Amino acid sequence: MTKKSKSWEKRLGCEPDESAVDFVESISYDRRLYKYDIAGSIAHAKMLSEQKLISKAEYNKIVEGLLAIEQEITNGRFKFDKSQEDIHMAIEAALIKKIGQAGKKLHTGRSRNDQVATDMRLWMRDEIEILQAKITHLQKAFVGTAGKYTEDVMSSYTHLQRAQPIVIAAYLLSFVEQLERDFVRLGNCSKLLNVSVLGSGAVAGSTLPIDRKSTAGQLGFTDISRNSIDAVSDRDFCAEFIFDCALVATHLSKLAEDWIIFSSTEFDFIRIKSSFCTSSSMMPQKRNPDMLELIRSKTGSVYGSLVALLTLLKALPSGYNRDLQEDKIHVFSAADTVKQSLDMACAIVSNTKFNIDKIKAGLDKGFLDATALAEYLVSKGIAFRQAHGIVGELVADCEKNNKTLTQLSIKQFKKRCPAVEQDVYEHLGASNAVKRYVTVGSAGSKQAKIQINYWQKLLAER
Ligand code: ARG
Repeated sequence: MTKKSKSWEKRLGCEPDESAVDFVESISYDRRLYKYDIAGSIAHAKMLSEQKLISKAEYNKIVEGLLAIEQEITNGRFKFDKSQEDIHMAIEAALIKKIGQAGKKLHTGRSRNDQVATDMRLWMRDEIEILQAKITHLQKAFVGTAGKYTEDVMSSYTHLQRAQPIVIAAYLLSFVEQLERDFVRLGNCSKLLNVSVLGSGAVAGSTLPIDRKSTAGQLGFTDISRNSIDAVSDRDFCAEFIFDCALVATHLSKLAEDWIIFSSTEFDFIRIKSSFCTSSSMMPQKRNPDMLELIRSKTGSVYGSLVALLTLLKALPSGYNRDLQEDKIHVFSAADTVKQSLDMACAIVSNTKFNIDKIKAGLDKGFLDATALAEYLVSKGIAFRQAHGIVGELVADCEKNNKTLTQLSIKQFKKRCPAVEQDVYEHLGASNAVKRYVTVGSAGSKQAKIQINYWQKLLAER
């Protein structure tokens, strides 16, 4: 070895300027790929020995060296040096230092371009499993909490105005549905990305007899990519991954917003356990939902990662470009943020109680039974559009006289609509309305229990 540490310094005839070393490095953030980089290298070395491109003895030395390096990194004993640029060069340099000549053969038929794309795919497969486990955890928390509120009625909202009555469980279960789609979406992302690009080299493949199927099989990929130019520049899976994370964050932000509103004195629908609230440095009475506010705000940073990556990819020329190095910054940031938010959301959902007495006391307000009354009129043979108008007039009557629909006399009903009979009172009031939901997927008690059953079975298998 000459004094110059990297082989390409021979071509350039000098060492890089210190500012260039600082600017170009990615080792400060791609070091977290080390396990995947080593797994990829071991598979590559095995294939090289199968293809007689290296000897069995050289292969054994390489594996031994790589495993020792893995141990050193795991134990925090490895010295990272930013002049090595990235984790790939750092590991290769350490290997050469450790085992000498055989280490210099590891990069045969390989480029960092197919290497880093392989590492990212391997990392993401595992990361998706972690995210899915956290999603499942949160779903279970929602189902558990829903189980406590299958009979308790609250208002649903559209336009943040009171809409129709629902059981609290149905509201909680609506989040389980959103999270389920996130789970499936991430699973789809994992399936689509599970293709081996190793052996694509820098951009055009190799003149050496690289057995791509061997490395793909060893690394658990289900297929190999068809086109080397596409393979080294494809980051679709990264964009898709961040998008999936962004939707998880979107769903969590909806929960956060709901519960910030619900925990206000004006609503007073929920009480978050004090250990998950903060107070004010000045106003002594405060119990603030800061965890939820931060879940809401972090959604913005995940969207930022998505836009950053898409912008990075936009109009890149074909083949590998160094811009692609920074994909990791955005992918890692999105994953880390969403993992944190999922954990916190799970803790909050498990540590929040609904103030059912307070909620119940307010059910008379907002004419939650108006739609049920219109449907009652339909059952008496009136066309829905007409029924809608009649109930609208009745509500206006009530509003003028500061009454609820339940408080109207049968005479007052008949004045607006002769078809109304005594049985109307069985349809009025929020809890009567909830009891009458019959449609599959309605927000009533019966349907919520069916859903809880469904989720309990499904989630228990995960
Ligand atoms: N650190 C680089 C990255 O993450 C590795 C690939 C570098 N390739 C190159 N041709 N300079 O993208």
